[in-house]
Formats: sequence, structure tokens, C-alpha cells
Amino acid sequence: SDAGDAAGGGGEASLLDEIKARGYMVFATDGAYPPMEFPNPENPSELIGFDIDLGKAIAEKLGVEYRVEVAEWEGLLGGLEARRFDAVMSSMNITEERQKSADFVQYLEMGQMIVVPKGNPDGIQSLDDLKGKVIAVQIGTTNEQVARGIEGATVKTFQNFPDALQEVAAGRADATILDEPVARYYANIEGDKYEYVGVPFETAPVGIAVPKGEDELVQAIQQALDELKQDGTYDRIYAKWFGG
Ligand code: ARG
Repeated sequence: SDAGDAAGGGGEASLLDEIKARGYMVFATDGAYPPMEFPNPENPSELIGFDIDLGKAIAEKLGVEYRVEVAEWEGLLGGLEARRFDAVMSSMNITEERQKSADFVQYLEMGQMIVVPKGNPDGIQSLDDLKGKVIAVQIGTTNEQVARGIEGATVKTFQNFPDALQEVAAGRADATILDEPVARYYANIEGDKYEYVGVPFETAPVGIAVPKGEDELVQAIQQALDELKQDGTYDRIYAKWFGG
């Protein structure tokens, strides 16, 4: 039947064509992960961060307007498959599991870090020291995966990262595991409450997810990124959010 001929069938417009025709591209993100994507403290209805600036720059290269939509972390890839947005840009590591439901364009590489209460009461220095401890993490993340691999650890999961961090501040968890730039951000901004320990681990690629099979869109994003790296824009955005 006609109705059964879903997107991706021969002769239909590609998602890239669609984005260009409508004049804007919709990026989805979990908007609570500073300095990657988070509400502007001076104007909370606006999202700012590394992913936001880079997404805007990519949209500009594609010649379309940038739009961003906040969605639950766990629903991001499902929403992408349902074509509720064009791309997911949410500090998402590229994993084999996720590549089953989306295609990725790598735009960054980052490791993970351990964050503990200020003063490091348990003297934690490495993942080894987390054995038997209570670890709070955001659900469905590569950080949760790492925590699950720690012997004897109790893993508490939260929909949003700030709630996991709050668990550490409240003394209900001994540590959290999170992405390196975010660990550094909190240790700077809320240095009275938190510190990161040890060195980054599990360094891995981070990507922009797009619906499977949209090769033209993948290529266009890749080309935009290449240009942004060549013309200095990428470095400028990097320095703005991650420092020199
Ligand atoms: N990098 C981790 C992952 O890919 C966590 C990302 C969480 N992102 C966010 N915006 N809260 O699983």
C-alpha cells in the first residue's frame, strides 16, 4: 500500500532536501549538561553551550536556521527514529548499540571523570577506589555503563544529570561519573561542593546522531564540520567553552 511506503523509499526527498526546503534544522538535546548544553543563567529560556554554538555554526553552513528542542535524554534516539527532529546533539558518545538506531558524525572526543564531594572524604583516586561505593549517574549513559562494571558498587540512576550530582552533594552517593568537560565545569563553578579526582578514562568519540540511511545529511554535516575546523570557527567555539 502507499501508506506502507515509509521514509527512505526510492524517489523521495532526502532529509537534507527537506531541511533546506523548510529552511531550518531541528537539533534535539537534553539541556542540562553544562558546558555542553544548558540554560543560560541570565535567560533560562535560552540554551547555550558548546553543542549549541557548534550546532548553530553547522546550520549556518547548511544555509538554514538553527532550532533546538529539549527532550528527555532516554527519548532522544527514539524521537530521532520517529523523525520528531532532524538530529541529536547532546554530548552523545558513539557506541555500537546506538549505531543500530542512528548514524553518527563525530565532532569531539572526550573522556569520563569521577566527581566526589569537596575534600574527597573517601580518598577516591580511581575507578578501583569506587568498589563497594554508591555511585549516582544519569540513566542510559556510557557513564552508567562504567559504573555498572565496578565490583560491589551500588549504582543509583537519574533521568537528568543534575539530580545525580545533587545526590553526591546531599551525601546519598559517594561519587558520580560523568563526561570530562562537565566534571571540570562543576568543579569550577561549584568548587565549594565538588571536586574531580584522578585522570580522564574511557576516552571515546562523541557524535551528532541523524536518522539512519540519510547519507546526504551525514555528508553535508561532515563537510560543514570540516569547513568549521579549517576556518577557525571550531577552535573558537572550543576555546570559548573549554578554555584555551
Ligand atoms: N556522554 C555520555 C553518553 O553518551 C553522557 C551524555 C549525557 N548527555 C547529556 N546531555 N546529559 O552516554
